Amino acid sequence: MAATVESDQWFKATLPRARLNELSQRSDREALRRVAAYFVLVALCAATSIVLWLQGSWWFLAAYAIYCYLWSFSNATGHEACHYTPFKRLAFNNALLYGSAWMQNWEPVTVRYVHARHHTYTSVVGADAEYLLPNPIKRRDLANLVLGSNHFWNYNKELIQLSLKRPNETIREAVPAEDIHRSTRNARIFLLSYAAILASCFVLSTPLPFVILMLPRIIGEPMHGILRALQHGALETEVADHRLTTRSMYVSRPLQWLYWNMNFHIEHHMYPMVPFHALPAMHEEIKDQLPAPTRGVRAGMAEIVHTMRAQRVDPSYRLPNRIPAPTTAPTATAAAATAVFPQVAVLDASEGADAGGGLQANTLCALDDVALGDVVAVEHQGTTYAICRTTNGEVYAVDDTCTHHSARLSEGVLIGCEIECPMHQGRFDVTSGEATRRPARKPLSTYPVEVVADQIRLRSPHN
Ligand code: FES
Repeated sequence: MAATVESDQWFKATLPRARLNELSQRSDREALRRVAAYFVLVALCAATSIVLWLQGSWWFLAAYAIYCYLWSFSNATGHEACHYTPFKRLAFNNALLYGSAWMQNWEPVTVRYVHARHHTYTSVVGADAEYLLPNPIKRRDLANLVLGSNHFWNYNKELIQLSLKRPNETIREAVPAEDIHRSTRNARIFLLSYAAILASCFVLSTPLPFVILMLPRIIGEPMHGILRALQHGALETEVADHRLTTRSMYVSRPLQWLYWNMNFHIEHHMYPMVPFHALPAMHEEIKDQLPAPTRGVRAGMAEIVHTMRAQRVDPSYRLPNRIPAPTTAPTATAAAATAVFPQVAVLDASEGADAGGGLQANTLCALDDVALGDVVAVEHQGTTYAICRTTNGEVYAVDDTCTHHSARLSEGVLIGCEIECPMHQGRFDVTSGEATRRPARKPLSTYPVEVVADQIRLRSPHN
């Protein structure tokens, strides 16, 4: 029997392992195109707004409204970078996160950790700091979320607290003590830069620097506030099933582009390691197993308003369950061939013991069970190993349970000699077990293995 890990409790749609690997590939080209196009658009709108302001034209208001609207989507760019998923390269992902975080008044280290908790405890009241629209929904909560008044103030308050080395309880819970100094440093730099913008207004005797570089965060907020409300609003809480806690939507092409495909929000929560550019394809793969997406922002808001009204009469009211019934029960063979879960091959000493030319007791699996560049889980004598086979053909065995929280590394992806956790995209070097990317910090246990007669075997410590 495979070991139980916490992430096993969450429902996940089935799809072929090879396809999941394909969809999890990052692309610097895709990300660069999207980031460049977005920031060029923002810069063009900023330049137009400045020119119209200086000319004293009323057209400034139109250009500025578009500019603020675009600015609000730095929330989406920052979110994607939190997951390390847009670019292959860490430095690019971090640059995108820090730039977006500056635009959003976030402290980047903190927001990455807090967002990781949002994925661990999605819509668990009290544990998910990003769950902002509790049931029964109150008008005040909805207004605060949409207008972003609390949001703007809370993030700036956090920056001030961090700069004074006095993080609040949410941050203390989410950010390890050893990383707080990075948060403090970032908060101070951000606050200094905001202060410099305000000071420049006095020096230049114009509010223009503030209007262009700080005010859009406030004016643009309602756009993203609405999208944030729609992600989990009026849905279930405290259940390990993203189909019940999270909403996917079909939206217009331009909005989908600006939102980095996050309208496929169930898909994102189920497989956060899949980058933005692959989410539409992921949606096509698994849509038959998910509730039909809500059609448009207006329909989504109508669902929230309808729920809010119904909850005035019955506070326990929730939207009806829209999970589709399975069309056909898969046969055992079909399920084994296509499902990611369960993928743990059970192989214990008694089954593996050599019974006349067969398997050795220390055999984990056949070499062919693990494709090049892939990872599979194998349970052997009470331990579940993630067996990794790099594209160079080298084979390594590490513990299958991530040391950060509790997720199966064999459900993640193998990139070079690093295995990436499917839950928060922490990484480990499979050759040494060293944690190479946050939020993973503690090393993994590694086990010496060898390939003998096309079998992957645990090597005896005495060899
Ligand atoms: S469970 Fe968080 S990085 Fe693995």
